Amino acid sequence: MAQTLPETMKALVCEDIGQPLQLKTVPTPLPTPGSVVVKVLAVQSQRSLAAIIAGKTPFTFPKPLTPGNTAIGRVAATGPDTTSLAVGQLIMLDTFVRARDNSDIQILWGFSDGFTPQSKKFMADNWVMGSYAEYVRAPLENTWALDEKRLCGNPSDGGLGYSINDLVSLPEILIPYGGLRGINLRPGETIVIAPATGGFSGSAVFAALAMGATVIAMGRNEKVLQRLKDNFPRVRTVVNTGDVQADTATLRALGPIDAYLDLSPPQASSSSHIRSCFLALRQYGRASLMGFIPTDLALPYSHAMGNNLTIRGQFMYERADVKSLIQLAESGQLKLGVAGSYEICGKYQLDEIEECFQKTEACQEAGQIVLITP
Ligand SMILES: NC(=O)c1ccc[n+]([C@@H]2O[C@H](COP(=O)([O-])OP(=O)(O)OC[C@H]3O[C@@H](n4cnc5c(N)ncnc54)[C@H](OP(=O)(O)O)[C@@H]3O)[C@@H](O)[C@H]2O)c1
Repeated sequence: MAQTLPETMKALVCEDIGQPLQLKTVPTPLPTPGSVVVKVLAVQSQRSLAAIIAGKTPFTFPKPLTPGNTAIGRVAATGPDTTSLAVGQLIMLDTFVRARDNSDIQILWGFSDGFTPQSKKFMADNWVMGSYAEYVRAPLENTWALDEKRLCGNPSDGGLGYSINDLVSLPEILIPYGGLRGINLRPGETIVIAPATGGFSGSAVFAALAMGATVIAMGRNEKVLQRLKDNFPRVRTVVNTGDVQADTATLRALGPIDAYLDLSPPQASSSSHIRSCFLALRQYGRASLMGFIPTDLALPYSHAMGNNLTIRGQFMYERADVKSLIQLAESGQLKLGVAGSYEICGKYQLDEIEECFQKTEACQEAGQIVLITP
């Protein structure tokens, strides 16, 4: 297939923190050694992006920036060292980028240049153009081929019948999947996920079920908990009442609990569910801490000691997790889109970004996705 790229393209640009995103016409990027150029088809509107651009989070980024996050696209032009990807290939563009010569230097390409001078330089010098654009130049190793025939093919031909937009649930699941793999969740185990009603935490429930676990979904939002229970026979629910003793007893009654994945947002820093979940873990239980909790917390130290608990912090995921998640989806075990309990709440073009942000603000519950289709 010919590698023809238009000379210019539309991209959203943030000139500085606190400035609104502007739609600009900019030169279309060209592939270089180690990269391909991707036509962006669909990308989730990142829930925290409006706050990040407004400077209301600890994340920083080089300016000007074209923001973005993990997207679904098609290879539009290959580089001189591309060996397997071809023009037209459907791909998932993973925005967790590690420096090639030092994988400890990491950025969240499109919105965070990390927390070290090296990571900030790495992003500023290389990766200031993210996926909220018609085209994006992408590192080869972050461009993951998807089996389009299997994922999007007709079920009568052995396909799973997903639309391109359905595939956007893959990136949403990838983050909690990293946490679940990090504590080696096994089929047949019981895991408590708390909270379980938000964007990433809801996806953690879907991922754990696909991995063969029984899920205890814990949270305060009883409407979403009920929906999870109604949709999945292997989901049990526990309401976070704030009473540690009572909630621990309720959890234990549903156990033994092998594992606990925490995805608490900052505002849940003082929530009692963290203590209840630790206290409910069985002997040799494992806990994965994935939430952004800015303060130090007291943990039930002697319970952890007496029960040989393993506690793991988890930032994002490993490269092997990406491949594994794609396999899980292509096998049909992990359901995407409507079949996976996702709902596309809105779909916006690049020039509708303000409406898109408003919709995103209103759609933060488990399974809700707002799309940008450049
Ligand atoms: N480790 C990583 O690599 C990584 C990557 C991405 C995101 N994260 C973090 O993961 C966390 C979860 O993401 P998300 O999209 O699921 O978050 P979210 O939608 O902001 O929040 C999840 C849930 O938190 C609960 N919650 C809110 N305030 C609470 C409070 N005061 N007390 C107790 N519960 C409260 C709510 O559930 P209920 O109302 O039902 O209680 C809400 O549905 C965030 O902190 C995010 O920054 C981590």
